[in-house]
Amino acid sequence: MPLYKTINFSPTTRILIWEITESFEELLGKVVLKEKTQLRLNGMKSEMHQRAFLSVRMLIQEIGFTDHDLHYDEFGKPYLSPNKCHTEPVEVSITHSHHFSAIIISEETVGIDIELQREKIIRIADKFVNEKELNRLQRFDAEDYIKKLTVKWGAKEAIFKIRNEKGISFKDHIQVNPFEIGDKETIAFLEMENIQQQFCIYFEEFQGFTLVYAFEK
Ligand SMILES: CC(C)(COP(=O)(O)OP(=O)(O)OC[C@H]1O[C@@H](n2cnc3c(N)ncnc32)[C@H](O)[C@@H]1OP(=O)(O)O)[C@@H](O)C(=O)NCCC(=O)NCCS
Repeated sequence: MPLYKTINFSPTTRILIWEITESFEELLGKVVLKEKTQLRLNGMKSEMHQRAFLSVRMLIQEIGFTDHDLHYDEFGKPYLSPNKCHTEPVEVSITHSHHFSAIIISEETVGIDIELQREKIIRIADKFVNEKELNRLQRFDAEDYIKKLTVKWGAKEAIFKIRNEKGISFKDHIQVNPFEIGDKETIAFLEMENIQQQFCIYFEEFQGFTLVYAFEK
């Protein structure tokens, strides 16, 4: 299946989700890759990873860019160079999880993450949420608890992708305000050394996955 969903969040921000049902060959036949990308693709061990990577190029093509416009900085953060259709600079963030991939493009500073909702997250909660956040989470409804932890994890990943900085601890430096799943948005704070920054977090669920995206405030 091609494009799974487009979220026209605002006139300057769009989110696109791809459901990866195509074979590797099918996807490869539909994208134009630069040599550097082809080499990276060849080096990937898992075919699912390769398909996800190619599906991101499909998403990039959907918004009028090609793989030739997509680059990475030394830490792996993606960026788009302006082309004939898009002369203004835009931000991009990329995520893939199992058979879904997504991008967000915006004139604002943004990060995105997709996570599969899994029970396992309960066991690792204390690795990425601090005591204050844990205490504020109601744990009597296991499904709700898993969903909220997944939003928190996704929010922290999305913020990490915005900051793109070594030394950020999800547990010690990023705090996500309390929220209900139905709220679909919350606020998060990054506090470390001399950095104090606020982020607007948006989230939604589909097919057992959680999509989270963050904007720098
Ligand atoms: C790099 C990282 C953000 C990727 O996230 P992930 O959930 O594993 O994977 P996703 O599929 O959501 O994201 C992968 C994409 O993120 C992007 N990315 C990679 N490094 C990045 C960086 N430094 N900054 C911003 N974006 C980055 C890339 O576009 C990549 O996909 P691509 O290379 O195929 O284009 C993640 O692995 C990471 O390092 N997280 C922070 C470390 C940490 O503190 N973890 C746990 C603490 S308990």
